[in-house]
Amino acid sequence: MNDPADPAAPADTLRAALADLVDGLPPRQAARAVERLIANYRGDTPTDAPILRDRADVVAYAAYRMPATFAAVRSALAAFAEAVPGWAPGSHVDVGGGTGAATWAVSDTWDGERPVTVLDWAEPALAVGREIAASLPALRDVRWQRSRIGTALTVESTDLVTVSYVLNELTVADRAALVDTAAGAAPAVVIVEAGTPAGYARVIEARDRLIAAGFQVAAPCPHSAACPIVPGTDWCHFAARVSRSSLHRQVKGGSLAYEDEKFSYVAATRLPVSPAPSRVVRRPQIRKGQVLLDLCEPDEQLRRRTVTKRHGDLYKAARDAAWGDPWPTEER
Ligand SMILES: C[S@@+](CC[C@H](N)C(=O)[O-])C[C@H]1O[C@@H](n2cnc3c(N)ncnc32)[C@H](O)[C@@H]1O
Repeated sequence: MNDPADPAAPADTLRAALADLVDGLPPRQAARAVERLIANYRGDTPTDAPILRDRADVVAYAAYRMPATFAAVRSALAAFAEAVPGWAPGSHVDVGGGTGAATWAVSDTWDGERPVTVLDWAEPALAVGREIAASLPALRDVRWQRSRIGTALTVESTDLVTVSYVLNELTVADRAALVDTAAGAAPAVVIVEAGTPAGYARVIEARDRLIAAGFQVAAPCPHSAACPIVPGTDWCHFAARVSRSSLHRQVKGGSLAYEDEKFSYVAATRLPVSPAPSRVVRRPQIRKGQVLLDLCEPDEQLRRRTVTKRHGDLYKAARDAAWGDPWPTEER
């Protein structure tokens, strides 16, 4: 697996490539394109035609959203990679891939090069994706292919299918068709959505379909049984830290150097898999001499566990535990 501390890691190359992309646009124009994009994404989706209509739209998307979608997918893939140690995809298809955030996340997760295809109906997104990808050798030969998601979608046989921040833009029927097609094309499917109640609901819908197709959940769940969250009361989501670009700061105002992208995800597979013993599903609360961990556990329950100094090494581990991490179930 790649070392995220490596200065030449794809994450750094992506940041530099996106900065170059925005430098090519006058700041006012870039900010206006972002505002239009935000307004469009607040409107009704699915739409009959692509939201990313021209280069300005796509540059705005890439600069404003791609660092966050990259970080979310990267985080989901890290959890998946932990559940399938020793495995790496020999090929990858990113459906609704847009400017290719997930292709960068796959390159950042697993070393080496592999055939990659990005499918999307927005030609300007594919064009900018290709342009950005030119700065990373592993992505220079990616096939950027125009394709409409729907019941007629076909996906070539591959090792890994990613679908990131796409289900939201589809009808119920097209979401089902996409998940079924992905399950038929690859032994590993990773789906990422916004970390909202609605995003979580779409992830659960996809999770159910993948399980029905014979997949096991690799992450985030410690099991492939029903999710213990009662619909409408809560939603399973995680957070990935993203550095804010200057364009980000310009549009959003404020001086925070980072923000936390909230996302929901499911990584499912037909490969032999070792899901986490349990998973930390909220930010741990550190109190004097104790850490409170909210865990999703393998017996299909959500539980709060209190780890105190008396637990020795486990207490030290709990102090380091982060939201989204796997957690050992047995208390020592
Ligand atoms: C929010 S963007 C996500 C892009 C990318 N996956 C990411 O994570 O940054 C949604 C993408 O889905 C594509 N899309 C939406 N509906 C589609 C459809 N029916 N067929 C093909 N692509 C579609 C859009 O063009 C856009 O690139």
